[in-house]
Amino acid sequence: MELEQEELTGSDEVSEGKAAYPATASTKKVFVKTYGCQMNVYDSQRMSDALAADGYAGTDRIEEADLVLLNTCHIREKAAEKVYSELGRIKALKAERAARGHEMVIGVAGCVAQAEGREIIRRQSAVDLVIGPQTYHRLPEALRRARRGEKIVETEYAIEDKFEHLPKPRRSEIIGRGVTAFLTVQEGCDKFCTFCVVPYTRGSEVSRPVSQIVAEAMKLAEAGVRELTLLGQNVNAWHGEGPDGREWGLGRLLYRLAEIPGIARLRYTTSHPRDMDDELIEAHRDLPSLMPYLHLPVQAGSDRILKAMNRRHKAADYIRLIERIRAARPDMALSGDFIVGFPGETDADFEDTMELIRSVEYAQAYSFKYSPRPGTPGADMKDHVAEAVKDERLQRLQALLSTQMHAFNLAMSGKTMDLLIEKPGRQHAQRVGRSPWLQPVVVDETAGEIGDIITVRITRTGHNSLFAEPV
Ligand code: 5AD
Ligand code: SF4
Repeated sequence: MELEQEELTGSDEVSEGKAAYPATASTKKVFVKTYGCQMNVYDSQRMSDALAADGYAGTDRIEEADLVLLNTCHIREKAAEKVYSELGRIKALKAERAARGHEMVIGVAGCVAQAEGREIIRRQSAVDLVIGPQTYHRLPEALRRARRGEKIVETEYAIEDKFEHLPKPRRSEIIGRGVTAFLTVQEGCDKFCTFCVVPYTRGSEVSRPVSQIVAEAMKLAEAGVRELTLLGQNVNAWHGEGPDGREWGLGRLLYRLAEIPGIARLRYTTSHPRDMDDELIEAHRDLPSLMPYLHLPVQAGSDRILKAMNRRHKAADYIRLIERIRAARPDMALSGDFIVGFPGETDADFEDTMELIRSVEYAQAYSFKYSPRPGTPGADMKDHVAEAVKDERLQRLQALLSTQMHAFNLAMSGKTMDLLIEKPGRQHAQRVGRSPWLQPVVVDETAGEIGDIITVRITRTGHNSLFAEPV
């Protein structure tokens, strides 16, 4: 899964207890905590929708929750272990609530649920419910059984289409969530990179049909969404039959979504270099609403390591691909994922990765020390790299990447660009939006309303954000 947006040294926690719905005295309350990638963010939202239909209101106060749901990430060991320490804390809260005569059902969803199943309840008996990503539409029913005291483990791949069975987002529920939205178009992965758990936790590749995607996108647009980010573990492998009876790829789908009134910006994540086809590159050339920012992980720059990782492309293929993409869209900025210390990685292999980074020049990047994952081929390989070596390589790689990111931001000074205003700023009388390259941009609140796209000039570049004035 290449779509995890974890800061360079950041945490796996994405969001906590988002109160999506107002609570009333009669409703039960759910606290949701989301770890990992944007697909988990999207899934948490859909689970909240399903629970809302069942009388649960969101809360951001865990101690008052009748249901605590952790939507977990299994991508690296650190992410998975965090769940157990969190569960330990929640167990104590559950006991406190029980002493006051209230229930607290504890549910574990997401990729740890899928990978570890019943083992989670064995390790932490306070857990009542374990539910994998393919069975979220069964959550309300599973929850009813859990509340009757049954221990529930739902990790089988359902044959029915979960998206068809999850409640459709209602306009009233979407309004107020913001002007940007995620839309899952594809799930799972058939690539089997040897370090990655995703093919096991999210299953094999499934594409949602065009009609479902377009209907959901139109609903989001009607509710005020201006920017859509299409999600998939291998989003550019998406394919489906179009209304013309022909097989569509992601490029064709983007042309269709660009026609929806109100949708001013399109993005997609995460892509695999092997699936960047001509039509997708042409879409970048032709569609002004397709933003000039692409997350295209390469993982490593050594052909030997790429082969051991089963990436099925060479470093030179990747560089050539980037040249073609930049030829189609000259202002394209690149983002990537990197793993250091994959088994067998020598100093020379690592230098190849550094060289690739120097030649691409990234605007953004996420980098990780290799973490052996149970059940993946990488875990059984020999020549594991010593932790201290991984640390040292990661430090050097991140230093190089952060120089590039910094240079990318600095180069924005004085530039004129479009800005989508997304929310109020932290300071009084400010608003924050995003540049086409995903950078947060701060403007005065008089510059425009939330949801407006305005033209601004960058007056100052800060460490993480840019500052601008309207032109
Ligand atoms: N160890 C370290 N990093 C990993 N990633 C995936 N699996 C592992 C692993 N076992 C990284 C990859 C991927 C990103 C989401 O997480 O870089 O693109
Ligand atoms: Fe994991 Fe590779 Fe599939 Fe991405 S393409 S989800 S890294 S197996």
